[in-house]
Amino acid sequence: MTYMEAFEKIVLEQIARAEKMAREESFYDYSSLSPIIIGMIDGDGIGPVILREARRVLSILLKDELESGQVILNPIDGLTLENRVRTMETVPKAVLEEIKGCHVLLKGPTTTPSRADNLPELESANVTLRRELDLFANVRPVQIPEKNINWTFYRENTEGEYVLGSRGVDISQDVSMDFKVTTTAGTRRIARAAFEYAKANGNLNVSIVTKANIMKKTDGKFLEICRQIALEYPEIKTDDWYVDIMAANLINEQLQSRFNVFILPNLYGDIITDEAAQLQGGVGTAGSANVGSRYAMFEAIHGSAPRMVADGIAEYANPASILKAAEMMLRHIGMGKKADQLAAAIDLADQNCRMPGDGTGSTAAEYTAVVIDGLQEK
Ligand code: IPM
Ligand code: MG
Repeated sequence: MTYMEAFEKIVLEQIARAEKMAREESFYDYSSLSPIIIGMIDGDGIGPVILREARRVLSILLKDELESGQVILNPIDGLTLENRVRTMETVPKAVLEEIKGCHVLLKGPTTTPSRADNLPELESANVTLRRELDLFANVRPVQIPEKNINWTFYRENTEGEYVLGSRGVDISQDVSMDFKVTTTAGTRRIARAAFEYAKANGNLNVSIVTKANIMKKTDGKFLEICRQIALEYPEIKTDDWYVDIMAANLINEQLQSRFNVFILPNLYGDIITDEAAQLQGGVGTAGSANVGSRYAMFEAIHGSAPRMVADGIAEYANPASILKAAEMMLRHIGMGKKADQLAAAIDLADQNCRMPGDGTGSTAAEYTAVVIDGLQEK
């Protein structure tokens, strides 16, 4: 294929994707589901350690629902690096089928194989799952009560720099191009999700973050559409910022507590949410929800930490982030009270355990034991 043909194919596919998105818009009603099937995916590296702890916690917290069959925890085993490299599929077909048989997913981190590790180049499993399940909203809360910080990031999760991230074109030996795509339908749905959240939580401030002064077409459209949606929520205070100054504002102690809800295109959302999580205590402390209209996937914000595994300290991985993801999952399926109970137990463990991730402090199992004590106190 010549690069012009490759380019044409990409353009036509993106037009079709945008048209399909514009036609779909209905949300699943979890409250009418019985049973609710939760797919549990270990992932790679420290994933099996933290998922094991999440299973322990959920089997206690949801004891009655599991016994009555109202909730099913369905282990999904095949999403491992070895399997992906063997089948040369980012998400092997059989695994994807199993995943699609669930309603929501709790997922450990997955390693992306790369040429640098002498592995074949495959797309990130996260990116594939977000696309295949159309999980368009990546919701990442960060809370630092002592600094009065209450942030919720709404990161667009299916397009921008990611939609064609593995499909760039080497035009010649010396010229390479990647693509960034923004659509009206894709932007409307993330903006709407963020404003609805802001409204449901007492008209929180909304900040739109782009680099529309440089990425004039894609970020320009993103900003324009977010502003249009903002007009439908006159009671909400909305502002917009460029991503570079927002990166500075988040660490500016005079300003940081003024922000509440953020709407960001995919890549800026990726970067800014790691910065924000670090302020809260590290990427190991933040949970993340990937929400679509049919499926939702809840995961730790961090990666699979192969260095911890290589150093023999995987058992010291912090399960806080996957437990926070589990808390978000419980809220999503309408179990807000269980989620509050879990949140309080996580706080207790955070106060009692030191989790530096360097092989000192508490192990994942010790941390979880404190969480479980916290649950049983109720
Ligand atoms: C995240 C991660 C992923 C991303 C990787 C693992 C593909 O960094 O969820 O933030 O870039 O989105
Ligand atoms: Mg990231």
